Amino acid sequence: MCGITGYIGYREACPILTEGLRRLEYRGYDSAGIALIADNGGLNIYKEKGRVSDLENSMAGKDTSGHIGIAHTRWATHGEPSAVNAHPHVSSSGRFAIVHNGIIENYAVIRKNLEQKGYVFRSSTDTEVLVQLADYVASLQDSDTVTVLQKVLSEVVGAYAIALLDREHPDRLYAARKSSPLAVGIGDGEFFVASDISPIAGYTDKVVYLDDEEIAEMHCGDSLHVVNLANVECRHEIITVPENLGKAGKDGFDHFMLKEIFEQPSCLTDCMRGRVDVAGKTVTLSAVREHKDRLLAAERFIIVACGTSWHAGLIGKQMIESFCRIPAEVAYASEFRYSNPVVGSSDVVIAISQSGETADTLAAIELARSKGAFIYGICNAVGSSIPRATDTGSYIHVGPEIGVASTKAFTGQVTVLAMLALDIAKEKNTIDDRTYAEMIEELATIPEKMRVVLRTNDRIASLAKMFTYAKNFIYLGRGYSYPVALEGALKLKEISYIHAEGYPAAEMKHGPIALIDEEMPVVIIATHNALYEKILSNVQEIKARKGRVIAIVSEGDSTVSAIADTVIEIPETVECLDPLLVSVPLQLLAYHIAVCKGKDVDRPRNLAKSVTVE
Ligand code: AGP
Ligand code: GLU
Repeated sequence: MCGITGYIGYREACPILTEGLRRLEYRGYDSAGIALIADNGGLNIYKEKGRVSDLENSMAGKDTSGHIGIAHTRWATHGEPSAVNAHPHVSSSGRFAIVHNGIIENYAVIRKNLEQKGYVFRSSTDTEVLVQLADYVASLQDSDTVTVLQKVLSEVVGAYAIALLDREHPDRLYAARKSSPLAVGIGDGEFFVASDISPIAGYTDKVVYLDDEEIAEMHCGDSLHVVNLANVECRHEIITVPENLGKAGKDGFDHFMLKEIFEQPSCLTDCMRGRVDVAGKTVTLSAVREHKDRLLAAERFIIVACGTSWHAGLIGKQMIESFCRIPAEVAYASEFRYSNPVVGSSDVVIAISQSGETADTLAAIELARSKGAFIYGICNAVGSSIPRATDTGSYIHVGPEIGVASTKAFTGQVTVLAMLALDIAKEKNTIDDRTYAEMIEELATIPEKMRVVLRTNDRIASLAKMFTYAKNFIYLGRGYSYPVALEGALKLKEISYIHAEGYPAAEMKHGPIALIDEEMPVVIIATHNALYEKILSNVQEIKARKGRVIAIVSEGDSTVSAIADTVIEIPETVECLDPLLVSVPLQLLAYHIAVCKGKDVDRPRNLAKSVTVE
C-alpha cells in the first residue's frame, strides 16, 4: 500500500515530490506528508490528514525550499489516519526523517525496548520504530548512515520500502527495501526514488529496481551506490523504461475508472498485438515458446491470485481445462500460502496480478518455488516484483490502471489466459483445428464487439439512478459467467459500498433465494450459451419471488427480455470469451451507481491500489 518518493538533485525538490505524490496517490490516500532539507539546512516537515491536495494547501506560504526531500501518501496499517501518524516520521534527536511503505511486524518489542531507554514516541505507527532505532544505533557509536541502516534493518521483521534523510549528510538520500517495491531513477546529476516509476517518468528513463535487503546511497556527482545488509556491494543493471510508462491522465473522462472502462477495446488490441495472428491463424505467446517443454509437461496448473485477478483465474481454469485437458485449480494466494499445499515439480503455478506487487501473491510464488513448481506470471505493471520473481510470464499490456477498482486489467488478464490456454492446447494437440481457428477469429473481433457494448453506457447511466436505493444486490451467472458475476458484485461493493453477492445461478435455490423480494435487484447473466435454458429457469424463479431482474442478454434475445425487468443486450461471441463482453456493462453499472451516490469512484474508502501488506 502507500506510495513513497524521494528526490536529490539540482532542481527544487518540493514540486517534484508533490507531483510524484499525486501520481502515486492511487496507492494510498488517507494522509500525506513531505520532508525537505531546506536551503538553510533546516528540516521542514509538512503532514496532513486527507489528500495530497490538502497537503499542498497546508504548505502554501511556508518554506518549501530545498533540493533534497522525501514524501509519502499513506494507507494506514498501524494507527488511525491523522496528521501525527502521517509520514515522514522524525527521530527524537531530529537527525533522521523517514517514509515507509510496509509493516514492521516486531515493532511493539522494539518500541518497548526503546521506550525503556527513554525514547518518546509521537505516533502510533509501526514505522516510527525505524527512525527512533536509527537514532539509538547512531548514538552508540560514530557510524556512517549506511551502517546505521544496516543495523536497524537487520533488527526488523516485516516488509519495508523506505526513503531516509539524515541531517548530518544533507547531500545524500538513502533508500532500502524488503518485500515492498522500490525503484531508483538515475538522472543526470539527480536521483529519484519511488514505489513505482510513475513519479520518475518524464525526468529520466533509467531505472534500477532494488532487491530485497539492499540499501541505496545517492549522492549527486557519484554513481548509485548499493550494498546489502551484510555490506556486500550489489551491482545492478540499469533498465531503460519506455518514456510514457507510468504517466496517465483522464483524457476528458470524469474518472480514471470510466476512462479505463472505455479504453478496453484498444487495450485488448494492444494485449493481442503480435500474439494473435488472424491471417496466419496462430496464437503465440513468447513465454510458451521459450518454456515449451516445461509447460507441456505440466501435470496440473495452479492459479494463485487475489480479488479481481482471482476472478480472472476462475475463468482461466475453465479455459485451461477445456482446451488443454490438464487439471487446473484456483487458490486465493492468501489461503494458499498458509495451507501447506501439495505442490511439486510437475506443477505449473500461474500467478495473476495487475500491480505485480500483491504481498500474498508474492508469498504464494515463493512457497510454490520452494516446492519445485515452475512459475508463470501474468501481470500488468512492467518491472514490478512479481514479473521479476517468476520463471517466465506474459504482460497483459493494458497500460497503467489508476482507478482502484480494476477493469481493463481484468479483461486483459482473461485475454492473456485465453491466449495461454490456446497456445498450450495447440502445442499439446488437445484442441481441434476448427475450434482453434474459431477462437482466433473471435478473439480478433472482441475489441469491436466491446465498442458496441460501450454504447450501452447512457442507458446504464439512467438505469443506475433507479438503484441507488438498494442496500443489497445479487449477481448470478453459470459456467464462464459465474466468475463474471463475482466480479460484477465486487465492483459494486468496492465503489458504491452497496452489499453485493455473486453466486452460481443454480446455487441460489440452496439458500440465497430467501433474500429475494420486490426490493432485491438481481443482475443475471443470460447470454446465449449451452446453459441458456437453465438460466432461463433461474430468471423465472427470481421473478416468481418478485425480484427485480436486470439481465445481460445476447442481441435479439426475446425470451429473457419478456420476463426480466430490464435487459442489456450485448453481441454474441463464443462462450469462453463472453466474460470479456459481459463484464463491461457490469463495470458501467457499478460505476454509475457509485457516481449517483456521490462516491469517490477512483479512490474508494479503505482500499488501495496495490496491496503490498498481508
Ligand atoms: C480490484 O478491483 C481490487 N481493487 C482488488 O481486488 C485487486 O484485484 C486485488 O487486490 C489484487 O490485486 P493485483 O491484481 O494487483 O494482485
Ligand atoms: N505501516 C505504516 C503505517 O501504518 C506504513 C503504511 C503504508 O504502507 O502506507 O503508517
